[in-house]
Amino acid sequence: MAKGARSGAGVRATPPARVQLDYTGCLRERIGSAGFTQAQIAQACRGARPALARLRRTLDAGRYGFDALLDDSPAAEASLAEGRRLARLGKTLVVNGIGGSALGALALESALSPGRRHLAILDNVDPDLVHARLASLNPSDVAVAAITKSGSTAETMANLLVVLDWLERRLGPAHVRRWCAVTDPKKGDLRELARRLGLSTLPVPENVGGRFSVLTAVGLLPAAFLGVDVAGLLEGARAMRAHCWSAPPERNLGVLGATLLRLMATKRGRNIQVLMPYSGRLVHLADWYRQLWAESLGKRLDRRGRVVETGQTPVTALGATDQHSQMQLYMEGPHDKVVTFLELASFRHDVRIPRLHADLPSLGYLGGRTLGQLLTAEKRGTEMALSAAGRPNFSYRLPKLSAHALGQLVYMFEFQTALSGELLGIDAFDQPGVEAGKLAAYALMGREGYTKEARRLQRELARRRAVV
Ligand code: PA5
Repeated sequence: MAKGARSGAGVRATPPARVQLDYTGCLRERIGSAGFTQAQIAQACRGARPALARLRRTLDAGRYGFDALLDDSPAAEASLAEGRRLARLGKTLVVNGIGGSALGALALESALSPGRRHLAILDNVDPDLVHARLASLNPSDVAVAAITKSGSTAETMANLLVVLDWLERRLGPAHVRRWCAVTDPKKGDLRELARRLGLSTLPVPENVGGRFSVLTAVGLLPAAFLGVDVAGLLEGARAMRAHCWSAPPERNLGVLGATLLRLMATKRGRNIQVLMPYSGRLVHLADWYRQLWAESLGKRLDRRGRVVETGQTPVTALGATDQHSQMQLYMEGPHDKVVTFLELASFRHDVRIPRLHADLPSLGYLGGRTLGQLLTAEKRGTEMALSAAGRPNFSYRLPKLSAHALGQLVYMFEFQTALSGELLGIDAFDQPGVEAGKLAAYALMGREGYTKEARRLQRELARRRAVV
């Protein structure tokens, strides 16, 4: 899949290794009646062909842009240039955005940042957190990315005003050069505000929604600010795109992932999907994926308007920490889960365990090994124990946590989610449930044009009877 590739340092001698999928833990021969034979899985993968064709047609028609944006080099270059400009102004980038406008940046930071600079994500409007975060920052050492596709999300707009005022009071009008507004190319109040204040702007393509936008300026600007290998990230995504659109279905990571999850949900009642990375650096990628999956596939209506109320619930866990917290439930509780592991074959900095007090049985066997070896052993042990207990699981293995490997994962998860939407016959790219909550917040906060809705909500609040 991944062909010879370029990095900032020049042509790589060997092609970057590809992400692997091991689904032994879904096979009947391994986990018994909860599993499927390889022939059944291959057949179901081939059965996804019409859904694949539908997805292809939708992408070719330009309805959804997460795939084609990988070819927009000028847009990626603009994000790089802007990220580097802001990096010259400070060590911290305040990211003012929420949901799909924040989770991707956070995932990229924790997985790939070299650590010279940091993001301060202001997504929630928890006053204590916002207060503490701003109090910890030096205004002369920050830049700000205000990110909202719609240009109107209440949390983002409120925090934006708070940050605007905070910087203005401390730095005067010159603070505007520290900002970049990332928003819809044509419309929305953030675009208008940027015009009024003279803020620099970057567009989010009209056909790319928040949770599919990590490889637009939404994620690339913060990544470039941090010094992440943006070219490698995009190259990895393109390599996985080539794989997902060319490999035979039964050997195709994107098709296999979507098919296994669907088979487990529809034929085995596994309505909960646990994503469990064995790497602290991938925790936020799991959070990003949880949103991607939940918001895309949790839907009341199918494309024909029939009530389906579908969607497998995504849950995140961290290995090995959650072996001591949630694993008991996964191992022995209801048979309603499928566990997806993320495993690294090597770590950025492994740590040797010193050979000390080797005469004590619980220390002796550890000395001379590494923490990375222990973590991998924990993962393999858990995987095998789950399989032995008849609990479906599968693993993605990354050669190492490089920008290229992360790019592969990002595209693969986006593809898998979009294809799952087609398999379910739903629109994976809208979010009517989220919009309903946004509108209610506008109404309750007195936004103009929402008076009728505000009255209805006030009446409903007044009718609350079950308050103890
Ligand atoms: O994926 C989505 O569309 C949402 O999670 C949005 O990203 C989130 O609601 C924020 O929207 P906006 O970027 O318009 O502020």
